[in-house]
Amino acid sequence: MTKRQIPRPADFADLLNFKRPTLDLTASRLAGAHTIADLRDIAKRVTPRAPFDYTDGSAETELSLERARQAFLDIEFHPSILRDVSDVDTTCTIAGGPSALPFGIAPTGFTRMMHTAGERAGAAAAGSAGIPFSLSTVGTTTPEGVAEANPNGRNWFQLYMWKDRQRSIEVMDRAAMSGFDTLLVTVDVPVAGARLRDRYNGLTVPPTLTGRTVLNAIPKVRWWFDFLTTEPIGFSTFTEFDGTVAELLDSMFDPTVTFEDLVWIRDQWPGKTVVKGVQTLSDARRCVELGVDGVVLSNHGGRQLDRAPVPFHLLPAAVRELGHETEIMIDTGIMSGADIVASIALGARFTLIGRAYLYGLMAGGRPGVERAIQILAEEVERTMKLLGVRTLAELEPAHVTQLKSIVPDIRG
Ligand SMILES: Cc1cc2nc3c(=O)[nH]c(=O)nc-3n(C[C@H](O)[C@H](O)[C@H](O)COP(=O)(O)O)c2cc1C
Repeated sequence: MTKRQIPRPADFADLLNFKRPTLDLTASRLAGAHTIADLRDIAKRVTPRAPFDYTDGSAETELSLERARQAFLDIEFHPSILRDVSDVDTTCTIAGGPSALPFGIAPTGFTRMMHTAGERAGAAAAGSAGIPFSLSTVGTTTPEGVAEANPNGRNWFQLYMWKDRQRSIEVMDRAAMSGFDTLLVTVDVPVAGARLRDRYNGLTVPPTLTGRTVLNAIPKVRWWFDFLTTEPIGFSTFTEFDGTVAELLDSMFDPTVTFEDLVWIRDQWPGKTVVKGVQTLSDARRCVELGVDGVVLSNHGGRQLDRAPVPFHLLPAAVRELGHETEIMIDTGIMSGADIVASIALGARFTLIGRAYLYGLMAGGRPGVERAIQILAEEVERTMKLLGVRTLAELEPAHVTQLKSIVPDIRG
């Protein structure tokens, strides 16, 4: 029989571990987030439906994104045992400069709609983490504003070719004058993808108050308060637009752009030129032949062509064929540091994160982005240690098997 006694307060005082109440609700929410999925949950709770869905959603049946994420979930890692991994080095060089971690922030449009702190929060957080930040042509902060928020770090500029070539030159000049060192030329938007959630939500830029949005706004008071009491949403490179996202994209972008234009763009830009949105080996080859400095294997986070190739499936063949001639980066579907480590093991030089950053931004402005970067950094480091590697260069294809639920037929 177990002998029992009456508990004395002195015996259990040491067991009490109540959290001190804090008035900073955002900080306490962020501290409770341990994965990017946790940040997404918070983001969903605090952001009105239309901007949340604009970020979270993709095109048509959303299969491109679902498959890309599934491909990362299908990784099997093969760790090496009994290595000294007390010190791990996560630094790398990319596009002629350093990065403290093997990922940077991808360009995203309309970012101040997700949270009014927008690009400034992303750029400042990226700068303090020592990773590059990318500003979109349809971003909501000027190149000068981003440079001010991230004065000592690396900023990259993403270019959509305008119908008006002179305006393309003007925006490139502004970015170059503001010290941006790399141009990402996005090539997967000849027309806007069909983002059906935006259509159902009646999303406009900037968001407008309809009967439905007012109802939905009631529990998202903080978002509306920030939105209505800060500088109105403006764009990085043009003045004003009232309409839907699809209307804006279609009014701006030029479906006649070809490889010749790519050469023209490369020649206008003083820094590194990287083509973003490459989805086949033959196109990757053509970009490399034209002398660009890198390619991003990407399907735009599944927001353009639905049922597009999964970039992570394309990676090994692209690296085998072109990895010694150019820097191969990858995005779409990255939700954890393990996804990043697997990409580097299969030969990617660098990765970009879109939603992982935006979930953090929506969850809590700059501290939210910092939390997202911290979560991914810890996951990268821990995964490297568990795999028995100390540097990114030690990661190799033997560390990863891609278990493929769908078997791709990659054509050259
Ligand atoms: C809300 C949102 C807006 C985006 N806007 C742009 C853009 O303006 N230009 C661009 O090249 N890519 C844009 N992208 C694509 C990202 O740069 C990146 O390719 C994609 O987010 C990667 O997938 P992930 O979100 O799963 O990380 C956008 C993505 C999201 C989620």
